[in-house]
Amino acid sequence: MVGPTDRRPYAAGRRALKRPVRCGPMSRCAPAPARWRSELSGVLITRPQIAARVRQLAGAIEHDFAGRDLAVVSLLSGTVLFLADLIRNLSLPLRLDFIGVSSYGAGTEAGELVFTKELRLDVRGRDVLLVDDILDTGRTLQRVLAKLRKLEPRRIKVCVLLEKKARRAANARADYVGFSIPDLFVVGYGLDFAERYRNLPFVGVLRPEYYQVG
Ligand code: PRP
Repeated sequence: MVGPTDRRPYAAGRRALKRPVRCGPMSRCAPAPARWRSELSGVLITRPQIAARVRQLAGAIEHDFAGRDLAVVSLLSGTVLFLADLIRNLSLPLRLDFIGVSSYGAGTEAGELVFTKELRLDVRGRDVLLVDDILDTGRTLQRVLAKLRKLEPRRIKVCVLLEKKARRAANARADYVGFSIPDLFVVGYGLDFAERYRNLPFVGVLRPEYYQVG
């Protein structure tokens, strides 16, 4: 659940706005809806908290890209809900395309990174906003950024809904971060486990018995 000091992230000005909202420990999670309670141990980020934060991120992005020719590049498939909500809050003219990339397969540990869809949009000389759902080890972002830079955009900014600082292994950072979360297995609002849970309108915590093997 979002901590009490994070309720007014705009209060200290635009710099504070770009700082992620910190999510507290599991013990402060809201209960999961009854339908999901056997699979989820709680709701880490509620639907209203997500909606409020997405509006704030969109405000910061609009400010930073005002007057620019913006290309939004979104990573499949986890960004599906976040992207839709983010861009409907942007009143900037923009172009949109996707890169398909997958690292987890059906398990929980990062495996080999596979590109399943290449970018078709011409981003040369353009301002790119790269959108992902979660920055975890950073390996995906590092690889995608290296690929994008070869296309010679004017600049690339990165926006992620969630980041887990505890697991960072690669040198990768985001410019706009929705929530900084503890090292929990989270699903919902686009994030999956074995392709399930993407449709949940909140970010929930999967019970360990659902992903631990042996
Ligand atoms: C997830 C997520 C990020 C990436 C982050 O993708 O969407 O792109 O992992 O992990 P990293 O920082 O450790 O590299 P996933 O491969 O699960 O594909 P999906 O978006 O289709 O769920």
